[in-house]
Amino acid sequence: MDLEVLIGNAIREIRKWEGGFGPYDRHASTHLETDKVAGVLGEYTERLKNNYPFFHPRYAGQMLKPPHPAAIAGYVAAMCINPNNHALDGGPATAEMELEVMKQLADMFGFAQPALGHLTTSGTMANIEALWVARSLHPEKSVAFSADAHYTHARMCQVLGIPTRKVPTEVSGRMDVSALKRALRDGNVGTVVATAGTTGQGMVDPVADIAAACKEAGVRLHVDGAYGGFYAILKDSDLLTAETRQSLKAISLADSVVVDPHKHGLQPYGCGAVLFADPAVGRLYKHDSPYTYFTSDKLHLGEISLECSRAGAAAGALWMTLKLLPLTPDGLGGVLAACRRAAVKWHGLLKASKVLSPVGVPDLDIVTYFPSVGAGSASEVSKASQAVFEKGMADTDDPVFLSTLRVPTRRVRVGKSPLKRDKNDTLVLRSVLMKPEQEHYVEWLHGKVEGLV
Ligand SMILES: Cc1ncc(COP(=O)(O)O)c(C=O)c1O
Repeated sequence: MDLEVLIGNAIREIRKWEGGFGPYDRHASTHLETDKVAGVLGEYTERLKNNYPFFHPRYAGQMLKPPHPAAIAGYVAAMCINPNNHALDGGPATAEMELEVMKQLADMFGFAQPALGHLTTSGTMANIEALWVARSLHPEKSVAFSADAHYTHARMCQVLGIPTRKVPTEVSGRMDVSALKRALRDGNVGTVVATAGTTGQGMVDPVADIAAACKEAGVRLHVDGAYGGFYAILKDSDLLTAETRQSLKAISLADSVVVDPHKHGLQPYGCGAVLFADPAVGRLYKHDSPYTYFTSDKLHLGEISLECSRAGAAAGALWMTLKLLPLTPDGLGGVLAACRRAAVKWHGLLKASKVLSPVGVPDLDIVTYFPSVGAGSASEVSKASQAVFEKGMADTDDPVFLSTLRVPTRRVRVGKSPLKRDKNDTLVLRSVLMKPEQEHYVEWLHGKVEGLV
């Protein structure tokens, strides 16, 4: 079904429901002339074209893609009503849907029910809640995360006044568990953040080993699965390595986990999620609101969330998407599997290439690579990567859109040889393959980038 038809049907249904309350006149102050609206809409859509084609497989750069048509239709329908999931009074239907999708996310991670959780406006907000709970339960103690964890952890710990410990990574980009164990020895760490799908290279920290180390040291474990969390659907699939599968399964041992439906969950921006294994942490959110919670004694989501107003439409869109593409290998798993196959395929082509080399081996669906022909030093590779990145976009007839990433130079090797380390970091190329269509586009992408080199 076409997106336009889907959206039209959705709006018509809502308008029918609205009609049931009797006719009313919109206030004259909101009236607009059709010609004027059409003119501004024309200008608006023209300006929107000043964008990169995030929808197209030739856009193989950052973590960006449009939502699924089902999510757009679901969002638009609810947005016509504009419920606010802060309180049941603000949106009873979408609040119920939010509880249902949170239950599905908890099941995906193997969290026992009832877990406590809710949607947020972003991965950053979801993580800050988990860090805030961590601080409340272990005041005075620090939060440890790897050198490859998203920068949001350092920044949000600063906001919350929590001391931090940076744990080194292995050459792969995963957390070095021996270094973590050393960091845990002095008893000053209260919470460890493991990342399931790092932002740079999509690497999955060894969550099972980290969970064991946390248990032994008596500290909390938070998993940041903002990017890669949905891969838990494929935790039994041999598309992933045994190590990645084990790590995804071990998320069930965490005290809290974050996942972003606005990344791999096919949703528009404004949809993150946080889950806590122990529903008793809900007591930490306790506050008094004289104006919002009046229609029922049932749980209002605002009572277990740091944010107040939140789009009910975000919950509605996710609910509708997961009804159609559930969190199973045959549902949303089909999308993830195609992305993973695309990364495996491109990694194979990069290994065989005479002019490009991969950086490490991808755990999920992000590939990193660099022009290796004649590469001697970190500076030379950085310069060549930047040139390819710019040339790809500058080709207006047949462009390719990539992104760049700074990685420690020790990760960049031509065959078995390390680069001359004239700089600690090297700029390489990065492609987030988060569109399933890219599975059938990888040869073109690879050939195009080889041509640019
Ligand atoms: C692993 C990880 N954590 C947190 C975030 C921050 O999420 P958001 O951009 O939704 O605030 C990102 C964003 O890319 C991420 O990849």
